[in-house]
Amino acid sequence: MEIFKSANWITCALANEGSAIAFYRNLSFSGKVKMADLYVSAVGVYDLFINGKKIDENYMKPGFTSYKNRLQYQHFSVAEHLNGNAEIRIEAGAGWAVGHHMHQINGVSPKNLFSKEIAVIATLTGEYEDGRTFVFQTDGDWNARSTEVLFSDIYEGETVDFTKPVVEYGKAQITQIQTNLVAQIGEGVVENERLTPIAVITTPKGETVLDFGQNLTGVVEMVVKGKEGDKISFSCAEVLDKDGNFYNDNYRSAKNQMTYVVDGNLRTLKPKFSFQGFRYIRLDEKPEDFFEKLQSVCAIVLHTKMKRTGYFVCGNEKINQLYHNIIWGQKSNYLDIPTDCPQRDERLGWTGDAQVFCRTASYNFDVRNFFKKWLGDVRLEQTEDGEVLGVVPQLIDRKLFSTRISAGWGDCITIIPYELYRVYGDKSFLSENFDAMQKWVEYIRRTGDNEYLWLTGYHYGDWLAMDEGMEDSYVGATSNDLVASAFYAYSVELLVKAGKALGKDMREYEQLRQNIKKEFCAYFMPEGELLEEYPYTEKIPKGKKSGCDAVRKGLTQTAVTLILQFALYKDETQKTALAKKLDELIEANGGKMTTGFLGTPYLLHALTETGYVKRAYDVFFREDNPSWLYSVNHGATTMWEHWNGIKEDGSFWSTDMNSFNHYAYGAVGDWMYETVAGIKIKEGGEGFEKIYLAPHPDKRLGFVDCSIDSVKGKIESKWRYIDDGIKFEFNVPYGVDAEIRLPDGQSERVTGGNYTYFVKN
Ligand code: BGC
Repeated sequence: MEIFKSANWITCALANEGSAIAFYRNLSFSGKVKMADLYVSAVGVYDLFINGKKIDENYMKPGFTSYKNRLQYQHFSVAEHLNGNAEIRIEAGAGWAVGHHMHQINGVSPKNLFSKEIAVIATLTGEYEDGRTFVFQTDGDWNARSTEVLFSDIYEGETVDFTKPVVEYGKAQITQIQTNLVAQIGEGVVENERLTPIAVITTPKGETVLDFGQNLTGVVEMVVKGKEGDKISFSCAEVLDKDGNFYNDNYRSAKNQMTYVVDGNLRTLKPKFSFQGFRYIRLDEKPEDFFEKLQSVCAIVLHTKMKRTGYFVCGNEKINQLYHNIIWGQKSNYLDIPTDCPQRDERLGWTGDAQVFCRTASYNFDVRNFFKKWLGDVRLEQTEDGEVLGVVPQLIDRKLFSTRISAGWGDCITIIPYELYRVYGDKSFLSENFDAMQKWVEYIRRTGDNEYLWLTGYHYGDWLAMDEGMEDSYVGATSNDLVASAFYAYSVELLVKAGKALGKDMREYEQLRQNIKKEFCAYFMPEGELLEEYPYTEKIPKGKKSGCDAVRKGLTQTAVTLILQFALYKDETQKTALAKKLDELIEANGGKMTTGFLGTPYLLHALTETGYVKRAYDVFFREDNPSWLYSVNHGATTMWEHWNGIKEDGSFWSTDMNSFNHYAYGAVGDWMYETVAGIKIKEGGEGFEKIYLAPHPDKRLGFVDCSIDSVKGKIESKWRYIDDGIKFEFNVPYGVDAEIRLPDGQSERVTGGNYTYFVKN
């Protein structure tokens, strides 16, 4: 990278492990500075100061990427800060690049393979008003000293002591970092809002707990004027247990604890190089008169800067809360990369989670830059063989922690680019990712003996599904062979569509898709019907929660849903029979779904698209476990990882796999936009150029007001039960070709304008 051509990476071997380091250099400027550009990056996370003043408000710079392949740098225009003498200071903590990554294995945290040391790099170029120029960069003339941050880690939290004297470490040491520096892609992580506590609780155990009223991702900020040596320490939690006591065992090994020792000055206490997922904090240690010393306290909500584009409100408060939880699930988990959850010892770019939620996410917010960045890392981490990992970016030895090459996870590389193309109409998502999509498909094609089915490997399957007898395991009962082969077919289908959109000859893959379908039908539905059970082919250790010893079923809600959604039926007759089967399976299960991570996002679509609209709504409105409203009824303010994370008796379903801020099941959001409000992009109408406005009203909702601020302008769909019928109102931007379809069969092709209809009940 030219900008850093003569700059050196610098580190400091004397600093205590885990502590943040201040790298600094005093410079003199011999005239009025007209322009100055400062470029900075770090192995770790950093803040930039000039003469003690923090230069920008972004958090967690330089961001999380596939560090071994690329590391972002940031640009700052700093002329106004450079008068006479100026101290440039870069404070850096461990962050993702040096700190903990991934959960513990047998009580030991896996080694972060990227770096053991915090390092920074910077280049300053500028021009005086008289035309003279200057260049400075990080080199052996920079110094290092300690900061008040004695320890910081993304999982663990932060320890800060304002009373400790600063230790000068002397000259920084030049070091080598193997990576490529690239300019920042996207907007970075910013403060979005501040929430003040809604209650101070004394729990039955006598703990002092602050409740922010909303599960969120961010940091707590306290402004405190203590006396020298006062210690304030707090931990984070998402929920209280059934007795009302503080509970964070579900964070597993991630401590999420902040500890501050203050001096006599007014101090703002806030983690600099860490973030937490929480609703509650427990004051673990505090001075006697803490609340008198506390001038203010709030939770700062952090996520990648994204413009909100989707809105949905209806006449049913529980559904509104569900929608709220979907939005907050996204806010909480779009912090630089799409994470599974923001609190426990993961917070990782789980590819499956990202994939299932991507469509909903792209209606809710403008996520173009967010995914442009992350998909770049997915491509960089794809192996030569075409494998797409379970977690991206990956910083540990993936053989040690088996992030599996799994169907439904690896398919993120075909599904996400195509979804983004659908919603934004931008073909660069396809052109940038086409080779990677093809490599993934070819990888599946090569594995195992059967070119047309995926019958090998070790998959996550229909993760956390609730099939009978599997409620306590992490996996569902649906045959992984079936799930994997279905996603294989879907990935090939998307590859074909992508290729065609790019003007490529896709005949080979069209043929492949047909062969897969034929083989799929013959293998999984030999007599035209799904079998009850399939042979169990995975060779993995048996384990209670892994469900590996369980029978693999064919006739499950997820199996039928995937076959319907990926069009893997022989003909229309079989499709009709399968749709009926799906309805019967739900009926036989007392009207409830059983689906997990892979089946759930498609379930209501499969029902509505085959005419079972009422059934879809009935499932949508259910309140017992498993259902979307179960968590709402149990006080959720974000989406839960497990359908019944908190059981009816108030106990927790598990300690290990029990996040209360996992967006995956929030994927139902796209059904709300597309079916309930009826705003749906037509095949061939990418970027909202051609859409349906085909709402499916249901009395239980009363009314719906929905809008998507699309790349073509704001599309609105509203309906309301009034008197003896339903009033529909649509707003269609110019340039959008909309086909309005109403429940009574009326249909009209419109563009640009407001349209109102009334349909009698
Ligand atoms: C994560 C998931 C992820 C899964 C793989 C979990 O630990 O939290 O959301 O997709 O592992 O199945």
